[in-house]
Amino acid sequence: QARKLFSHNIVLIGFMGAGKSTISEFLSTMFAMKIVEMDQVIAEREEMSIPDIFATYGEEYFRNLETKLLIELQEEKNTIISCGGGVAMRKENVVEMKKNGKVVLLTAQPETILERVKDSDERPLLNGNKNIEFIRELIGKRREKYEEAADVILHTDNKTIMAICEELIEKL
Ligand code: S3P
Repeated sequence: QARKLFSHNIVLIGFMGAGKSTISEFLSTMFAMKIVEMDQVIAEREEMSIPDIFATYGEEYFRNLETKLLIELQEEKNTIISCGGGVAMRKENVVEMKKNGKVVLLTAQPETILERVKDSDERPLLNGNKNIEFIRELIGKRREKYEEAADVILHTDNKTIMAICEELIEKL
């Protein structure tokens, strides 16, 4: 049985394509922690893809679902919470995630992000906007909020998943 390593949940935040889902899966296997992938839970509950939720009800509706889910998740134990890229933009969400979790920010250069997201059509904000200028600008608008929310910051460019996880364990 895996040793319980963390006394808090781990909350992963960061831009689309920063590696939240990949790192979540790796950590979950390594440390026998449960994963909650927020986008996936929301899509299952609504019985709709994220792009369809945006198209049908609008972004604000989706953001409210995120906030509601995050509040529920504070009851979880031994869990990795993989947030959608916009979750840390609301102050109230950041307050919630800090209640029972260590907030870990994953970052990557716009070039790396573009490479990682270019074949996906699951991200409504990027559909029609998959270019370096758009990504750089949106990261620029969000950076401060991401950094303010974070207990630990991990840069992921040119690193193996293993190296990123080792760095996380050291820093937590
Ligand atoms: C969003 C990121 C997406 C998803 C939605 C909005 C954002 O999640 O929640 O498309 O505003 O950055 P990922 O970061 O998992 O792609």
